Amino acid sequence: MVNQETVFITGGAGFLGSYIASKLVAEGYKVVVYDAFIRYSNPFFDSKFLERQFQSRFQGTKDKVIFVRGDTSHKSFLQKSILDHKPSVIIHLAALPIADIGDKNPDEAISSIIDGTINILNIIKDVNFVRRFVYTSSSMVYGDFEHNPADEEHPKKPKSIYGGTKLAGEVLTEAYARRYRIPYTIIRPSAIYGPGDVNRRVVQIFLENAFEDRPIKLHNGGTSKLDFSFVEDIADGFILAAFHPKAENQIFNITRGEGRQLKEAVDIIQNLIGHPLKIEITSPDFHRPERGALSIEKAKKLIGYDPKYSLEQGVEKYYQFFKQFYTDDARE
Ligand SMILES: NC(=O)c1ccc[n+]([C@@H]2O[C@H](COP(=O)([O-])OP(=O)(O)OC[C@H]3O[C@@H](n4cnc5c(N)ncnc54)[C@H](O)[C@@H]3O)[C@@H](O)[C@H]2O)c1
Repeated sequence: MVNQETVFITGGAGFLGSYIASKLVAEGYKVVVYDAFIRYSNPFFDSKFLERQFQSRFQGTKDKVIFVRGDTSHKSFLQKSILDHKPSVIIHLAALPIADIGDKNPDEAISSIIDGTINILNIIKDVNFVRRFVYTSSSMVYGDFEHNPADEEHPKKPKSIYGGTKLAGEVLTEAYARRYRIPYTIIRPSAIYGPGDVNRRVVQIFLENAFEDRPIKLHNGGTSKLDFSFVEDIADGFILAAFHPKAENQIFNITRGEGRQLKEAVDIIQNLIGHPLKIEITSPDFHRPERGALSIEKAKKLIGYDPKYSLEQGVEKYYQFFKQFYTDDARE
């Protein structure tokens, strides 16, 4: 399939971006990934498994993606790259993606999330070829959920620097869009998991500890709920929202749409692994917002978003990826 349209993905070398880029390549788009190749975990404590996760990205699509190494905070190079490739769609994923790091390094969160977004908006306002700007926000903009499921109109009371800067990026996107008529879509994902993540998020840590026979820590017994979302579904949702005419100038929650307790994810892993796991119950973590399900009704109705993976199905896929690694010679 040949498609002349170019999609420019900032942060496209990352976990979610690599799925979106690979799917777009398969659909025939020209895909330009603009990424600073930042690593958030300490390389001296990384496991070999993280390398495997990196290597699982872009399988079969590496040669078809144009990789540009660049930082969104470097406006002149970003501008040159956008002018060179003249994309019709820009999907902006590049951001410091971890709330805990954002709280510890607010300057980095602000430069990465706010400055990077402003730079892109300032470039887009002066060109005429971009017909959609997709801004990646987060469920962290809501803070503690006041109702469940949280729809897009839910009050925005972020409890972290990360959530605050993501919300600032939304406000700026809408302000630029109103002022300069930039067509945009804002997406709020949550708790994405699956093969290829190297940021050691919760499902990955659970699986790692399960395979390594280490205790799995569950704050407050793992009763907190998250809207765990399998990465394939989220990538499909982004692509739908980026191109659908009805997604123009809209905000969408793009998640699985179900609140599941952390201990449920552990139970699923325990069933798959077939023996009792070591569990350590720790005190509640009050820094994290109390979340749950996000409503995906708007995305379902307006653009036909239809996530396929239940938590059981998604965790099983991720489990198989781990199992392959742990039974492979490559591990040694
Ligand atoms: N993973 C989740 O659960 C989740 C949930 C909500 C929102 N998000 C958002 O989705 C996006 C993608 O997250 P991810 O999980 O794929 O993270 P990731 O760390 O795997 O990918 C982020 C990518 O952005 C790049 N990047 C970061 N700052 C940059 C900069 N200033 N210039 C250029 N490149 C830069 C990194 O090198 C990395 O490749 C982020 O905006 C994140 O905040 C993720």
